Amino acid sequence: MEGRTFPPGCAGQRQLTALAVLLALSAMLPEPSSAQEAGSAARGKTIFESRCVACHSLDSHRVGPALGTVFGRKAGKAPEFAYSRALRAASHVWDRDKLLAWLTNPEVVVPGQAMGYQVETAGDRLDVVTYLASFSKK
Ligand code: HEC
Repeated sequence: MEGRTFPPGCAGQRQLTALAVLLALSAMLPEPSSAQEAGSAARGKTIFESRCVACHSLDSHRVGPALGTVFGRKAGKAPEFAYSRALRAASHVWDRDKLLAWLTNPEVVVPGQAMGYQVETAGDRLDVVTYLASFSKK
């Protein structure tokens, strides 16, 4: 964007105004930075298989709920999983930013939750979330 100029005499004010409105709107959106970075689903799969499968699988409940359909699902609502009271009462939808925050520190997202597991590295979190998100695009 920096340094971009418009050719002289080009359509002018109306488009510039529209552009300014768009820029102003996008500045008002919640922090898009993490959402814009591309994670690696392939790396995420490896991380999932080494760090999450102790408690989770994609398609069945274990110590933790099945995660194959978690992206876009309401928190604490997978049928037939015995959630903590806190997570069952949560009302957010698991999108990219919520999942990243959860893996950073679940207790900050849902105080009283029962997962008690964190992923230390931002890149690892992004990759796992990219992996989980990949199932919702099919
Ligand atoms: C030590 C076991 C354990 C590990 C390891 C673990 N989880 Fe969990 N996870 C749980 C439990 C238990 C819950 C349910 C928590 C509750 O009811 O409060 C949960 C819940 C979740 C939820 C919320 C699901 C929903 O339906 O609302 C997500 C998302 C999640 N885990 C992702 C992950 C990911 C990704 C990993 C690997 C990086 C991981 N978990 C590793 C035990 C674990």
